[in-house]
Amino acid sequence: MKVLIIGSGGREHALGWKLDQSPQVDELFFAPGNAGTSFLGTNVLINAMEIDQLVEFAKSEAIDLTVVGPEDPLCAGIVERFEEEGLKIFGPNLECSQFESSKDFTKKFLQRHEIPTAAYNTYTDYDSAVKGLGEVSYPIVIKADGLALGKGVVIVSDYDHGVQTLDEMMNQAQFGEAGATVVIEEFLDGPELSLLCIVSHNRVIPLDLARDYKKAYDGDQGLNTGGVGCFSPVPIPDDVEQSINEINKMIEQGLIEDGFDFTGILFVGFIIQDGKPYVLEFNVRFGDPETEVLMPRLESDLFDILNKAIDDTLIDEDLIWSNDKAVGVILTSIGYPAEYEQGHAIKLPVANPVGTILFHNGTAFDGDNLVNAGGRVLTAVGLGKTQEEARLLAYQLVGRIESDNLTYRTDIAK
Ligand code: AMP
Ligand code: GLY
Repeated sequence: MKVLIIGSGGREHALGWKLDQSPQVDELFFAPGNAGTSFLGTNVLINAMEIDQLVEFAKSEAIDLTVVGPEDPLCAGIVERFEEEGLKIFGPNLECSQFESSKDFTKKFLQRHEIPTAAYNTYTDYDSAVKGLGEVSYPIVIKADGLALGKGVVIVSDYDHGVQTLDEMMNQAQFGEAGATVVIEEFLDGPELSLLCIVSHNRVIPLDLARDYKKAYDGDQGLNTGGVGCFSPVPIPDDVEQSINEINKMIEQGLIEDGFDFTGILFVGFIIQDGKPYVLEFNVRFGDPETEVLMPRLESDLFDILNKAIDDTLIDEDLIWSNDKAVGVILTSIGYPAEYEQGHAIKLPVANPVGTILFHNGTAFDGDNLVNAGGRVLTAVGLGKTQEEARLLAYQLVGRIESDNLTYRTDIAK
């Protein structure tokens, strides 16, 4: 079987690494992929948003399954385009992709089905939004409704900061169209959890939990990033687990009642406040770096799982997890998530230490040299019987990577 993976990050490398282990998969293609994926299959020079070219490629190569990494092509209708051509593709349709492309759409769903989430209001004009700022207690959170590369969320400390944030989003179009509508919501305080679920025609089958580190520097300091460290599983108290299971059932019931046909990944971001889980957001794709720590722990055949989800034959028992703990440390370009330089040489160890895997997030070849080509560059994953063992292994691998332009947090999973 031939599989096409769309995207170019660590998530796509980890999906490819896992799919490559399936006895059913003969050939892997990545569009466009990165230096790391080129060792697993063929990188094709088509970007994730070049949907016509991707369809043409999948037809000409007779691709058996396409897996979509990033949200942009999903929110642009790639699944419909592939299905119209009779091509098999794993990802939600355009209607269900609104759970990622509109925060208001998700908040309405959560409220309609009485799923715990932060209280909120949605505004489409600046004056009403400013008026809304006078009616809340601080801090609050202001979110651009649309896709903003994870940057459209601002925690606002007081009224003046709120007015400034609204002005930037709504009047100055800091996030373009995405900020024309804003959601103002209650600030929740507590640890976050990432729960990726495989959804098969509205049936919600959760993967193991992961925890992502969003802040750039040690001790959760610095700017928000796409995620610079991760671990899985995440031990949680029984009552929290039970509440999360109930929420999953409510989501499933909600999808059915509303008449969706959701097949793909539903990534539920939770915050646990005072021992109670609240849904922060939905994404409709695999998380990055969550995928890099989940795939090495998945014992079942991913190709099988994705096909069964599409064919409506997947059952909970199909997902088998190893007891190993996984810790992922991301090496980022110095300066990320702000300005950073690309094209600096990276020297990798000849062999990775036993119990480690290296995924590439943003790398390229400059001639024969490996160079950084993104903000997040590499993910060093350690696997061990305990989280501590996994953590030490991940950092052992980090220590063997040489570059003058990479940095990392030293407190992941500590
Ligand atoms: P989102 O894109 O909605 O997940 O928001 C990105 C990040 O902003 C989350 O992972 C949280 O760290 C933070 N965040 C979002 N909403 C809230 C909230 N209501 N209270 C506290 N933090 C939030
Ligand atoms: N790690 C968070 C995300 O993928 O959105």
